[in-house]
Amino acid sequence: MYRVVAFDAYGTLFDVYSITELAEELFPGQGQALAVMWRDRQVDYTRLVTLSDPSPTGSRHYVSFWDLTVLSLRYVCKRLRLTLDAEAEGRLMGQYAGLKAFDDAAEVLGILKGRGLATAILSNGNASMLLEVVRSNGLSEAIDRVVSVEAARLFKTAPQAYELLLKEFPVKKSEILFVSSNAWDALAAKWFGFDVFWVNRASQPFEEIGQPPDYEGTCLLDVLQAC
Ligand code: LAC
Repeated sequence: MYRVVAFDAYGTLFDVYSITELAEELFPGQGQALAVMWRDRQVDYTRLVTLSDPSPTGSRHYVSFWDLTVLSLRYVCKRLRLTLDAEAEGRLMGQYAGLKAFDDAAEVLGILKGRGLATAILSNGNASMLLEVVRSNGLSEAIDRVVSVEAARLFKTAPQAYELLLKEFPVKKSEILFVSSNAWDALAAKWFGFDVFWVNRASQPFEEIGQPPDYEGTCLLDVLQAC
């Protein structure tokens, strides 16, 4: 019944916490805290930009996700009183540019395409960083469309961001399955009207607001049971 399976990128296809090892090497004893706080602050910044000017033409405060990622890293290092020199920043952002895909990502994308489904990414990432992380993981052929919220200049969870998928694919809303490991993203996509699959790798509770996801699994391979 689905014709398109659209994946969130960071956290869902690509492991944002794989950065922890390098962070620990650079800042012994602080790697874990840095990785978690960095991710949280990055998402906070996307919400600030979007909520402070949710105009149909995009937020006047829009800053690319790459730049927000750099700025949130700088903030968190200051907060943790860590000295982030240009070399350390370059290494951490270099790692971010080439974040590793989860082990089952390539297999799942290949099987979905084999079943005749279109595959896509819908991400807060800007187009150039998305194309780079897809390319560096050898997934360019496996993903039909890489859709960035850059076109809307609003980040998820703005409805205009999810709407981009409908502009990209001439299908009905009900024919798109949206997959995310971020509960907030799955929740908002459901509010928008997509069927959603929540990849719950860490056995966390789903959000207490909104509707539960249509499907839940513990890895990307589980998505195959829904399609
Ligand atoms: C993404 C982040 C927010 O949109 O997970 O890829």
